[in-house]
Parts: sequence; structure tokens; C-alpha cells
Amino acid sequence: MRLTVIGTGYLGATHAICMAVLGHDVLALDRDGERLAALAAGRVPFHEPGLPEMLRKALDSGRLRFTDDVAEVAAFGEVHFVCTGTPQLAGSMGADLSQVEGAVAALAPHLERPCLVVGKSTVPVGTAQRLAGLLAGLAPAGAAAELAWNPEFLREGHAIEDTLRPSRLVLGVAAGTARAVLEAVFAPLLAAQVPCVVTDLATAELVKGAANSFLATKISFINAMAEVCEASGADVHQLAAALALDDRIGGRFLKPGLGFGGGCLPKDIRAFVHRAEELGTGRSVRFLREVDDINRRRRLRTVELVREQAGGDLRGARVCVLGAAFKPHSDDVRDAPALEVAQRLHDEGARVVVVDPQALDNARRTHPDLEYADSALEAAAGARVVALLTEWDQFRGLDPRRLGEVVAQRAVVDARGALDPDAWRAAGWSVRALGAA
Ligand code: UDX
Repeated sequence: MRLTVIGTGYLGATHAICMAVLGHDVLALDRDGERLAALAAGRVPFHEPGLPEMLRKALDSGRLRFTDDVAEVAAFGEVHFVCTGTPQLAGSMGADLSQVEGAVAALAPHLERPCLVVGKSTVPVGTAQRLAGLLAGLAPAGAAAELAWNPEFLREGHAIEDTLRPSRLVLGVAAGTARAVLEAVFAPLLAAQVPCVVTDLATAELVKGAANSFLATKISFINAMAEVCEASGADVHQLAAALALDDRIGGRFLKPGLGFGGGCLPKDIRAFVHRAEELGTGRSVRFLREVDDINRRRRLRTVELVREQAGGDLRGARVCVLGAAFKPHSDDVRDAPALEVAQRLHDEGARVVVVDPQALDNARRTHPDLEYADSALEAAAGARVVALLTEWDQFRGLDPRRLGEVVAQRAVVDARGALDPDAWRAAGWSVRALGAA
């Protein structure tokens, strides 16, 4: 089939590449010429394991092309996937829908033949219905230009697997041909027995918001238990391990630590609350405000632990921060807990040196006040405190004896439960960790 993908960010680039590999002819649109040039030359402009190889395979097959011309996209596609961003609005908890609305408004006047426009972006419930009206009003094809919603659940670091072997497909459709068209697009996945939920537009939009809310709640639940453990002398990691053995609870997303960040969970739960309040049902999701608060408090508690390890005053103290990305195997620093903590330490007068295997370029751009180093040993040289804030394997594997030789004082804060406290104490370190006394 002839598909187009509007927006070549994380979601759009992955979707375009994977659809071409499935055998569709794909034309991807973006207004960022540099991004288009990189992709067309076989370079993925973010870190995602396996995606560069898959991009080159798609380009070699001749089934993937890029353009900045919306009229070309409209003329080419039978199905148009909208994959633009929905960031948090400045000064509000709500989502900024201007990119999604802009994409549909730009495309619609060129749609002269019957076609399907499919939203994949995460949007507040009710958006799809509104866009359907916009589309029908602006498209010369009128009602023959249909709208559907197909939310995306991909995780950074697992983008290919989550696109080609997703846990489920959710197809939000109104009456018309949308269901049959989407089933044809995803035929290879359906043949591989991927579960598929076909529903209305509003439910499809809500599945995404509800899934992210549940995941965030699970993380904040265990981090709330971490606060209780800290106050009572218990150990949250052992608590989590014991809870996880009950398969009604399960161990996934029950990892205590510095909490969730990234370009999705934090802003998506806020937008979910905002929309529920607009709908007059704010009370139903009021607990998500607490989920958000628990998550923020972990960052402040980490700053407190580093301050305590520095002797009560951060002014002039050199602090080595291990990790900048919002999670390992990613170069994404959007709402990265590690960088917020690092910035707060800096703002209290510490000299903060950050090291990260993938995210340094992005961190330099967003946090220019901090210092950066290329290795943990370099970052730790002369440090009064070492703080592990993103659990990269490289940091888990650090030798506490070797690191102990270069620091000014053997004091470490483990905010991710990634270090073996006994081994570090045996090497002469004072160890403080989130979720332990
Ligand atoms: C998330 C959702 O998983 C995905 O379905 C959605 O489409 C987009 O948002 P992603 O942002 O890539 O994906 O990251 P994810 O792996 O879900 O982790 C989110 C955050 O939670 C990270 O900061 C991670 O460190 C943190 N986390 C995760 C925990 O603190 N504890 C856990 O047990 C799991």
C-alpha cells in the first residue's frame, strides 16, 4: 500500500522505516530539512538500537522516501499517519495540539481522492472527533477522507520490537472503510497473531492515556513505599522483590529509584488530568497529581542525600553525576530526572561534572551550566560525592576501588539501586541510597 508518515520524530521515523520494511511504499514528511537529509542519507538523528540498519535496508529497497512537500504527500498516499509531537503547553498541564492540528489542516485541502488519515500521536480524548470534523470540512474529497486513531505504545530502546511485534494494536474507527484499510496495513502483524482491539475513536485515544497513567502509578507506588522504607529503616528493593513474586502484582515497572522522566510519561499524565478536569471528572484522576508529586519528591530527596554526603553544604563541592539520559539505552534528555538533580546541585553551588555514554551532546545543549566528562574516572576526579542517577551498565560495573583512588572523598549516592552497597562499603565508601535507611 502507499502510506505517508507526517512527522519524522522518534515515533514517525520508526513507523515510516518499519512500514517500509513490512513491504509498503512509504513517503515521510517533515519541515525540518536537516532531519530529512540525514534520514535520506541513512542516518537516524537519535539513538535507537537497530534502527540505523533497518533504515538503510528500507532505503535500499526503494520503498522509503522523504519530502517536505505536503501536496506530494497528499497525492501519493492512500493512508496518512500523523506522528507529530504533543508537548506540554507552557504554563499549563494541558497538551499543545498545534502540531497535530497543523498537520491535518495543511494536508486536508490537498485530499481530492478517498483516503484515510490516521492519528498516532498521544492526544486528549475528544481530539480525534474534532479533527474528523476539520478534515471533512477542508478536504475536497469531503467525507471520503476518513479519520481513524491508532495509538502507539513504543518504548525508546525497544522501538522496532514495539512497532513490529507490539503487545496489541488498537484501532479507533468510526463507520466507513477505516477498519478494513487499517487491517490491510497491519496484515503481517495480524497474521502473526498480534492481538487487535477495534473500538471507537474516544476509547482508542483513552487507551493510551490510561496505559501511561497506570505505568506511572506503578512506579510512583513503589517510590511511595521507598519513602516509608526510608522512614522506617526497611529496604525497598527487598520489598519490591517480595511484592513482584505475587503474579497479580508482577515485577515490571515496580523498580524503585529516581522515578520516571522522558518525553512521554510525565507530560502525558498531566495532560490526562487536565483533560479529565475539562470534562468535569477531575476527581476520578486526582490521584495522578499525587503520582506526579511522588515522582518529583524523589528528585528532591536525591539532592538532599547528595547534600548530606557532601557534609551539609554543596557550595564549592565537586559532584560527579553518573548519567544524564532519562533512562539507559537512550540519548533522550527530555525531563530527565538525572539532569534536573544535577542542575539543582549546581544551583546550590556545587561544581557538577556529568558523564553519560550517549546523552552528552543533548545534555550540553539543554544544560549548558553543567560540566561534562568523557569517562566516569575523569568525572570523579577530585569529587566529594559520586551520584549514580541513570543506571547504565557501565556504571553498575564500576570498580569502587579504582574510583576510590581518584575521588576527594569516598561518598556515593545510588539513586537507582544499581550498585552493590556491600562491595562499595568494603572498598571504603560511605553509601546512601534511595529507599534505604
Ligand atoms: C513510555 C511507555 O512505556 C510507552 O509505552 C509509551 O509509548 C511512551 O512512554 P518510554 O518513555 O520510552 O516509554 O520509557 P519507559 O521505558 O516506559 O520508562 C519511563 C521512565 O520510567 C524512565 O524514566 C524509567 O527510568 C522509569 N522507570 C521505569 C522506573 O523508574 N521504574 C520502573 O520500574 C520502570
